Amino acid sequence: MSSAPHTRSPWTQQELNQRREHTLEFDEGIIDELEQWRNHSPEVIEDEVTHAHVADMTRLQQLALRTREEVYRGSGVVRVSAPPLDRVDDDLLRRYYLAFGVHLGTPLGNYGRLYEVKDRGGDYTKTAIPVSQTKAATGLHTDSSAVDVLPDLVGLICIRPAPVGGASRIACALLAHQKLSQDHPELCRILEEPHYRDIVTPGADQSQRQRNRFPVFDVSDPSRGPVCRYMRFWIEKGYEKAEIEPHPQLQAALDQLDAILEEPDSVATFTLQRGEMLWVDNTTTLHDRTAYEDDPDAPRLLLRQWVVG
Ligand SMILES: [Fe+2]
Repeated sequence: MSSAPHTRSPWTQQELNQRREHTLEFDEGIIDELEQWRNHSPEVIEDEVTHAHVADMTRLQQLALRTREEVYRGSGVVRVSAPPLDRVDDDLLRRYYLAFGVHLGTPLGNYGRLYEVKDRGGDYTKTAIPVSQTKAATGLHTDSSAVDVLPDLVGLICIRPAPVGGASRIACALLAHQKLSQDHPELCRILEEPHYRDIVTPGADQSQRQRNRFPVFDVSDPSRGPVCRYMRFWIEKGYEKAEIEPHPQLQAALDQLDAILEEPDSVATFTLQRGEMLWVDNTTTLHDRTAYEDDPDAPRLLLRQWVVG
């Protein structure tokens, strides 16, 4: 499947909050479908779950189709409420999330199908590791720094929230591009040119470092609208490692973009509770999370999926 084109309108956080379609209710009938799957297949190898395994889960499919509609043709953002927590355990939540990814499109395996977003004690500013392996605030970004790996959708399900912090923040890249192009057209044009990125995505070809460059806002396909790929840190590292001087105004352009992204009408903030899912279009929505503190006995755990198509 190829990615669906998007010609959607930008949203402010107030507009998103008022938009009913971006919050979907969990359907309790899905629990019966998940239990049937578990009875039939007590053990599953997560990386090998295909559409054939979950094709008969029609209630789940309905919810996935409504999610697809909103992420590709609506706001680009869907939050799905949690199942009744007395009816699900961790295994059932993992199955639910796996089946959901398969019904949405083709999950990518660069990090394993269900990638555990948890603090592994690293510092992404000192070693080339993904920010998802730390407890730091990340800054608003899209996922994947490798030119050839572009998830259309990024999903998260919360297994255990943090006692302090760890809120999700999202912002509309289309709104940021609109403001930047209107108010700072010269700076905007710089971000529409290709820029080097450091490569931290597993499975990406490291020998391709010299060709790992692409725009922050790709406007080459006018039928699609701008495609945003942004994480500031990996751009700065990319130029540093390539030993190439960036455009003299790049710093100013990135400062302006960051300032626009943090304007009061930009960022929607919420905290995912156990069992809640978030899906975003990774090419029109930036995401971030606040720093957090862990309960050592029950550390924060979210599962992430990358999906194409
Ligand atoms: Fe991310």
